[in-house]
Amino acid sequence: MLAINGTQAMGDRVMRRLAELAALSEMEGGITRRYLTPAHRAANELVGGWMREAGMDVHTDAAGNIRGRYEGTDPDAPAVMFGSHLDTVADAGAYDGCLGVVSAIEAVAALHEQGVRPEHPLEVVGFADEEGTRFGVTYLGSAALAGLWEEQWFDAADPEGTSMRQAMLDFGLDPARVGEAAIPREKILHYYELHIEQGICLERAGLALGAVTCINGSKRFNIRITGETGHAGTIPVSWRRDAMLGAAEAISEMERIARAVGDSLYFTIGYIVCRPNLANCIPGEVDLRLDVRSNSREELDRAVADMHAALRAVCAKRGLEVSIEQFFQSPLMPCTPELVDRVRKAVGAVQGTVTELPSGAGHDAAEMALAWPMAMIFLRCEKGLSHCPQERVTPADAAMGVRVLLELISGY
Ligand code: GLV
Ligand code: MN
Ligand code: MN
Repeated sequence: MLAINGTQAMGDRVMRRLAELAALSEMEGGITRRYLTPAHRAANELVGGWMREAGMDVHTDAAGNIRGRYEGTDPDAPAVMFGSHLDTVADAGAYDGCLGVVSAIEAVAALHEQGVRPEHPLEVVGFADEEGTRFGVTYLGSAALAGLWEEQWFDAADPEGTSMRQAMLDFGLDPARVGEAAIPREKILHYYELHIEQGICLERAGLALGAVTCINGSKRFNIRITGETGHAGTIPVSWRRDAMLGAAEAISEMERIARAVGDSLYFTIGYIVCRPNLANCIPGEVDLRLDVRSNSREELDRAVADMHAALRAVCAKRGLEVSIEQFFQSPLMPCTPELVDRVRKAVGAVQGTVTELPSGAGHDAAEMALAWPMAMIFLRCEKGLSHCPQERVTPADAAMGVRVLLELISGY
């Protein structure tokens, strides 16, 4: 029987460890940790050491995920898995992803220190790439575990032109063996992910923890607008086929469509590359990435269709060419009701009040749900800020995160 006490000390250690991880970065003065970089390797080594200390058997799998296993009393029982990701966006916060990994290790460490074993083995995974920051392909780590790796991903290149295949070789991984990271379906019973909310529902409700009901669907597109470059000082504006001006008008049109749908639709153009990108040259070509999300499949599909139509109309009017290619989609993914129920009970035991909320952000849990029952627990973050250095979590909330994981574990 596990005694759940001393959790503030656990929360404090989680915070210290997250600060240690934050120091493993590709950039000076901030956190950027991309797939298959020296920072990724260093994070795996640090996290692997904490897993070992918590009594787990540890290995890096064929896709570069770090995995720890704490044996249960029934050697044949399927494992209950807890995880999140160790990679980050560029100039990131310290909690997106890492919180879930470090908190799960802390929960297992509490069991280990008390000599307690559940019936089911526990697995903790630190996914190697969820954000897609380096190669533009997301959920790589969880796709590998779920046996859903796609061959064409090896050819994706990072901004320096290094292919994923080459980066894997440089990291010491064999691309031909990535399939070995897949876990047979029957070996995992349930998957849970603790993650910061990255939104403001919990803060507004004055609650540290919430049970996630679903992960919103999303689609992303590469858009290329092609016009004609030329001298900025000689060609009258009315004669030009300026790709940047077309992009500007199209973005405004897409924003108008998004606003007309309302707050349930999320619309972002967060990526723009202009060529030749010089002050005295007319922009001849502009690349954009469009990200649209919703918790309604119909709403998402309708908005995307309207946005594409608007984009084509603006470009046609301006004599510009446009190509639109979908490069990512994550369908609306409901959490497994039986597991949401377990999360509700665990949150109730820790916090008294239970609240439910959808996830606006994407998570490895969405990919894991293609193979196993899945649920998520959200933890409050200050002002809902995330994907930026201003991400904040309090030590008291971090302690509650560990407690909720221990409550969940006590059911196995
Ligand atoms: C992942 O963090 C996403 O939702 O973009
Ligand atoms: Mn993220
Ligand atoms: Mn995340």
